[in-house]
Amino acid sequence: MRIVRARDYKDMSRKAANIISAQIILKNDCVLGLATGSTPIGIYDTLTHWCEKGDLDFSQVKTVNLDEYVGLDGCHDQSYRYFMNKNLFDRVNINKDNTHVPNGKAENAQEECERYHRVIESMGGIDLQLLGIGNNGHIGFNEPSDVFEEKVHKVELTESTIQANSRLFDSIDEVPRYAYTMGIGEIMSAKRILIVASGKAKAPIVKELIEGPVRPEVPASILKFHSDVILIADEEALSLL
Ligand code: PGA
Repeated sequence: MRIVRARDYKDMSRKAANIISAQIILKNDCVLGLATGSTPIGIYDTLTHWCEKGDLDFSQVKTVNLDEYVGLDGCHDQSYRYFMNKNLFDRVNINKDNTHVPNGKAENAQEECERYHRVIESMGGIDLQLLGIGNNGHIGFNEPSDVFEEKVHKVELTESTIQANSRLFDSIDEVPRYAYTMGIGEIMSAKRILIVASGKAKAPIVKELIEGPVRPEVPASILKFHSDVILIADEEALSLL
């Protein structure tokens, strides 16, 4: 794992946006795996700015998101489809038909998992997968577990994730208890992985990610087995190393 040290959130966002931008320049019809959460917002702002300036062209880019809450439709302001539209897709010249997020309102969970797996496969592989990391080590919504789940699946969120995400809802009772997520196998199939972390709260899990063993109790630890992973973290997130 290559570790890139950033000064602060802004520097981390700019460095990560540079790598995504380089990917788009090298292959204008690339497949980007995208993430939600607070951490990528600055990256999406930076990419939007470069696109507005005419330095970046999303017209051929295809995207596939990591996860979505079960039960929320794309118009719900806490759904990940809504987040992606608001923070990136509505602001750049991407063709929305080329953007994919699991359908939180699908009637049949098993069929939705299979459908989303086929979507990922049909895109011919993810060129660059962007990841955040949860305080508990999750990537996407692959929560700490006793196994690494391979493919898209429906997952029950842990109390720590529900707690962490409740900041965005009116009350903790409104946080969905289940989500669809890409599996570890699909994430690990990406050609290149870019994982970002910022702030003191992430320092313990960043230390565990870098120094700890590979184990499903820390899902992000599997990234050590990937040959092309870049971690961009700011000083605070690296402060326990
Ligand atoms: P955050 O979430 O960027 O909001 O900290 C990261 C994650 O849970 O993957």
